[in-house]
Amino acid sequence: MKLAVVGGGSTYTPELVDGIARLHTELPVTELSLVDPDTTRLELVAGVSARILARAGHPARVTTSTELEPGVAGADAVLVQLRVGGQAMRHQDETVPLECGCVGQETVGAGGLAMALRTVPVVLDVAERIAAVAPRAWIVDFTNPVGIVTRALLDAGHRAIGLCNVAIGFQRRFAALLDVDPGRVALDHVGLNHLTWVRSVYVRGEDVLPRLLDQHGDVIAKQVGLPEHVLRTLGVVPSYYLRYFYEHDAVVAEQRVSPSRASTVADVEDKLLAIYADPTVDTKPDLLTSRGGAFYSEAAVALLASLFGEGGDVHVVNVRNNGTLPFLPDNAVIEVPATVTGAGAQTWPIAPVSPLLAGLIGHVSAYESLAVRAAITGGVDLVTEALLAHPLIGQVSLAERLAERLVEVNRPHLPWA
Ligand code: G6P
Ligand code: MN
Repeated sequence: MKLAVVGGGSTYTPELVDGIARLHTELPVTELSLVDPDTTRLELVAGVSARILARAGHPARVTTSTELEPGVAGADAVLVQLRVGGQAMRHQDETVPLECGCVGQETVGAGGLAMALRTVPVVLDVAERIAAVAPRAWIVDFTNPVGIVTRALLDAGHRAIGLCNVAIGFQRRFAALLDVDPGRVALDHVGLNHLTWVRSVYVRGEDVLPRLLDQHGDVIAKQVGLPEHVLRTLGVVPSYYLRYFYEHDAVVAEQRVSPSRASTVADVEDKLLAIYADPTVDTKPDLLTSRGGAFYSEAAVALLASLFGEGGDVHVVNVRNNGTLPFLPDNAVIEVPATVTGAGAQTWPIAPVSPLLAGLIGHVSAYESLAVRAAITGGVDLVTEALLAHPLIGQVSLAERLAERLVEVNRPHLPWA
């Protein structure tokens, strides 16, 4: 099969290649096509990717293209992992909201909306061009904000599934704490992308979450950045993205005196690229573990193996709601476990969601629908409306000020501004 990666020059790509090399039998990739406008990155990343595959004795060839159409033509699957404006614009997403006392994050709140405004038009254009030259291809979207981008892709009729590493990260970390094989750990994981809670952790049919919290509550609390007693009282494990809601003001205070994540990541990326340039390097470097995307390769490769192999495995993915959460419209995009086969991802009825979770999910999901509309239609008014609908903004003066600033800062990347 031909697997194309749009944004293939990302420093994350060797993570993916490592997964392809390890899952050779489940996912018979014959061509890995890396597509990226940045020729320097493309060559460095393609070089180390080819060496990782060769070391594993994997037969796939690595090809590169700075042009989209030749790179994705005839692909069976296309992973879209691009970042419009690079780390420089991410830095803006993480700092501009702070001016107004709001959290600065690339996928949450006003920063997340700015990223969506830049990204949705680009990804929709990319998807349309993919459909023209690879009409059967599955699009697997890692491009953030994944919930909003996936929703826009599905609205436009594309064969897309959104993916994030938060759920697999929980699964792997819980398995380590329980000392069991990760494949034996199934999560009741519910919510929207970067707004999820783990409600149960099943091992051989038994919910071991109460035991996990009893024995390892301190470790889990540290991993998600929330006080241990909160996890115990709620009886669920919020993902670390919930900290931006549950501890909003504390996070803002921290962010005001720390360097942005974008500037830290930019330094890590320089170091990673220098490592990739070394012709003796033929494994995924340890430094990659300092990025947020841990287990990303495993999630992606396993998902592709289900889409193209026998199928039937369960993956936590971003898909249409279609009644799974009865309090949301069918066309909302949610992040839940689903059974994945060549026909796509099939969700199943889940236990009722408590008001604590449902309130925030409903609120943010409504914001996401307005974010898609603002990104496609454009205009300061729609940007303001989306911000007004966001639980972390929600006030007219704040929404108006932020909308103006976001449009000002992002203007070069907004087709309508
Ligand atoms: C997690 C999230 C990704 C996000 C990443 C950021 O993996 O699930 O959506 O892109 O963190 O990691 P970084 O190292 O760029 O801060
Ligand atoms: Mn994610």
